[in-house]
Amino acid sequence: MPELAPSNCKVCCSDPQKLDLAKHFSRLHKLPFCKPSEDLLLLDFASDGLSLHDGKTHLRVDFLAGETAHRKKYGGGRGQALARAVGIKPGKPLPSIVDATAGLARDAFVLASLGCSVRMIEQSPIVAALVEDAILRAADDPVFQQMQTTGFSLEQGNSIEILAEIACNNPPDTVYLDPMFPHRQKFAAVKKNMQMLQQLLGHSHQGEDENLLKAALSCALKRVVVKRPKGAPNLADQKPSAVIQTRKTRYDLYLRC
Ligand SMILES: C[S@@+](CC[C@H](N)C(=O)[O-])C[C@H]1O[C@@H](n2cnc3c(N)ncnc32)[C@H](O)[C@@H]1O
Repeated sequence: MPELAPSNCKVCCSDPQKLDLAKHFSRLHKLPFCKPSEDLLLLDFASDGLSLHDGKTHLRVDFLAGETAHRKKYGGGRGQALARAVGIKPGKPLPSIVDATAGLARDAFVLASLGCSVRMIEQSPIVAALVEDAILRAADDPVFQQMQTTGFSLEQGNSIEILAEIACNNPPDTVYLDPMFPHRQKFAAVKKNMQMLQQLLGHSHQGEDENLLKAALSCALKRVVVKRPKGAPNLADQKPSAVIQTRKTRYDLYLRC
């Protein structure tokens, strides 16, 4: 079972109204509570929502504005590589998807906005809290409400365990994996928010990758999709059945039927 890297993140609260919430979170996840500062990696309970910052980068998940919303609008619809990778085909029912490495939910949000039901799993309580906060802030938006009706949900936990439960109860058509980059390997330039996630979570390890891919393959009814940076080795050294390549990203497909 993968273990979370010991966190270098602290909790602070710049909105006095959220002080109880922030202190509760810090106790629950054993993260030190401190005053807002420019020099530390901090999860800030702020008036405009939860954010992670380190003095240079400010990371907040927002489904209604910014990069995520822009990608939904201009990302290329059902013809884009991500959509084809998960199995969206003209005239066919949309696949149900488990995104087992949800991260900041950018890919999951694109897939949900294309009409797929998407169940997200994220093991880091800090990252999951950022996404959960964005879900709450978007809750009054009618388009977002429609996505939630179709299925757009998040649970915090380790996918290796949760996929085993889902496999018995309600297996999806597709399991989507986008694990952290392998240790010490540099591929396409990593965006600032991903650099921050790496600072928070560390890199993936071979043993974890193998267990994650195995759990995904035992759960998906039709396919497992693995997102990799261009030039990265196959996940767990396992050769895919097919590959969809874009300029910076590769989608490795492990087809079940
Ligand atoms: C590269 S990020 C995913 C980015 C995501 N695709 C997006 O669009 O924002 C990888 C995420 O997978 C999560 N993760 C890695 N192993 C996991 C596991 N076994 N269970 C659940 N989440 C996991 C990490 O905590 C991290 O947040």
